[in-house]
Amino acid sequence: MEIIDGKKVSAACREEIKQELTSLGKKVGLAVLLVGNDKASEIYVRNKENACKEVGIQSYPFIFDENADEQSIIQTIIACNQNPDIYGILVQLPLPERLDAAKILSYIDPKKDVDGFSRYQMGKLLLGEDCLVSCTPQGILQLLDAYHIPVAGKKAVVVGRSNIVGKPIALLLLQRNATVTVCHSKTENVAEYTKNCDILVVAVGKKGFITGDMVGENTVVIDVGINRVDGKLFGDVDFDTVAPKCSYITPVPGGVGPMTVTMLLKNTVKAAKNAH
Ligand code: GUN
Repeated sequence: MEIIDGKKVSAACREEIKQELTSLGKKVGLAVLLVGNDKASEIYVRNKENACKEVGIQSYPFIFDENADEQSIIQTIIACNQNPDIYGILVQLPLPERLDAAKILSYIDPKKDVDGFSRYQMGKLLLGEDCLVSCTPQGILQLLDAYHIPVAGKKAVVVGRSNIVGKPIALLLLQRNATVTVCHSKTENVAEYTKNCDILVVAVGKKGFITGDMVGENTVVIDVGINRVDGKLFGDVDFDTVAPKCSYITPVPGGVGPMTVTMLLKNTVKAAKNAH
């Protein structure tokens, strides 16, 4: 069993991104909008700002209080759309429940949609066209590539069908010629699928959902879960019982997580390149 080191792969990707930025020779800006005071979101946004600083992307933070009105958020997005120094815009999710997230996100210029959540970018992904792919699924592919894990012809099972992770990673694995099965909350006997695959991606948001008895020998296990319990992070995979059985596994923390922010930087540089 080998542990996939997301921090190491992420650091190498950031070096490449720095070089790309240097050769691009332009100031590249990323706008980050945060609404309210969700503690996890505050941490993610701070991580994103620090990551920008590290590689030389100019971050433009826009912090709104819990009661901010929809129009002021939309006006900020429109101003960012028109700002030629800003190539990427992201609205940290989740937004406070009273706000219509889909409506707000729809104002982001799809070419600056570095989260890859828009209909335009998701549609291109579905069609297999070059696009800004949402960050976590893109990070998973980079990890598989970094460890030379073959995908073509393999049986892949994705547990979870969210728009942010499950659906896009299923499409990306399909594009790489895996045979893909998507399991979800209504799937009967999930273990029947998870036991019998080569690559298992788990993104359900439930601590320790996948246990050792649910995986076969020599599976590649990618754990997307970030479950905070008493200030500690846990994945969707019960590491202690699953790790001894598999060929590769991503730990939590230190697996997929570090890749997500790095892919945001990569998408921002890509959006800047596309604009020129
Ligand atoms: N909240 C949880 N994950 C994400 C993400 O990838 N992008 C944004 N904008 N918000 C998130």
